[in-house]
Amino acid sequence: MDHFLYRDGQLMAEDVTIAEIAAQVGTPFYVYSTATLLRHFQLFDDALAGMDHLICFAVKSLSNVAVLKLLGDAGAGMDVVSGGEYLRAKAAGVSGDRIVFSGIGKTREEMRLALVGGIRQFNVESEPEMEVLSEVAMSLGKIAPITVRVNPDVDAKTHAKISTGKKEDKFGIPISRARDVYAMAAKLPGLKIIGIDVHIGSQLTELEPFRLAYRKVAELTEQLRSDGHDISRLDLGGGLGIPYARDNNAPPLPIEYGALIKEEVGHLGCEIEIEPGRLISGNAGLLVAKVIYVKSGEDREFLIVDAAMNDLIRPAMYDAWHDIVPVIESAAGVEQTPYDVVGPICESGDTFAKGRMLPTLQSEALVGFRSAGAYSAVMSSEYNSRPLIPEVLVNGDQFAVIRRRPTFEDMINRDTIPEWM
Ligand code: LLP
Repeated sequence: MDHFLYRDGQLMAEDVTIAEIAAQVGTPFYVYSTATLLRHFQLFDDALAGMDHLICFAVKSLSNVAVLKLLGDAGAGMDVVSGGEYLRAKAAGVSGDRIVFSGIGKTREEMRLALVGGIRQFNVESEPEMEVLSEVAMSLGKIAPITVRVNPDVDAKTHAKISTGKKEDKFGIPISRARDVYAMAAKLPGLKIIGIDVHIGSQLTELEPFRLAYRKVAELTEQLRSDGHDISRLDLGGGLGIPYARDNNAPPLPIEYGALIKEEVGHLGCEIEIEPGRLISGNAGLLVAKVIYVKSGEDREFLIVDAAMNDLIRPAMYDAWHDIVPVIESAAGVEQTPYDVVGPICESGDTFAKGRMLPTLQSEALVGFRSAGAYSAVMSSEYNSRPLIPEVLVNGDQFAVIRRRPTFEDMINRDTIPEWM
């Protein structure tokens, strides 16, 4: 469910026409819907009602400070994986006691930043990290609250590049070693154990892998408690998938996921944290591009648009499907053409879709790439010296540019020519 619908033949973002935003901002651009972001956050909040819980938005999925402020003001915590994300969350007004710090490679500087600025917990992922964190905390006269991320060796049944809970993955500590690692953590003077963390992957379209992982976490909770540890918080990660194609079977709903959480860990009396990103932000964003040329190849038509793989890398990187829709609704029964939808970048991987059936389009037509809220703007680059594209937030009938389009000078002036040249 999202708020990018047609009204009177025009694709809208809530109550604003996409065409109007394009006229003011230029293309390409990202546009996000306030109502969709809030609705998806609320679905998780409702799903966990009755349990002590905090929903920590995975900042990596969409990190614009305005979006973080919107969700933070609605009551979300934040899951961050770098000093940069931590500072974004703080800039959005989220207090440290609602920020959790994940990631396998936290540096001393990042630990210091979070310990000084305030942190809810560090999700630690290795013994060496625990030792360093204890040291850094002690040097600041602080105690770092931690969970240990365990790797439950569960197949998340998702794309190999975004599966994180199998034993061959680099994440977490093997659950079989968890009791020893917790015993070690308990001896480190700068750490305070508060719970357990698990995250098995992203874009999960079935609940069963979550069930297997959470069951293992529940067992571990009881073992660790019998070992004398105080386990009062479970961070159950993110990962619930979204429908990318309209005609696909929809993944399970947050309410079903919440019921599973209650079933598997509800009896433990722990505070529950989850770290969803994609389900909150994914379908809250649209990438809008303009057709530059329609080009006839030997055996196919290419729709060359002004967005490229540097703006949206998911198709090139994960063979991801994004629905592509015309901004002016086509009349029923209008002629359709199979297009290879491509960007201007000089490599064949710069292809968004092959043989995609779309109403026949001319140059200057606007198209939207759906489900481009999560892992889209955040993964963009300036490859081919294409400046990053703007981000726009819509709220009802108003919209604002929440990241402006840099000028070419902005981009070029970041480079410096050494004096000796
Ligand atoms: N927590 C941790 C520790 C994570 O590593 C992730 C995502 C999340 C939470 C949020 O997962 P979500 O609810 O968004 O599935 N770039 C890829 C996705 C990478 C996901 C990385 N970790 C893509 O475009 O599909």
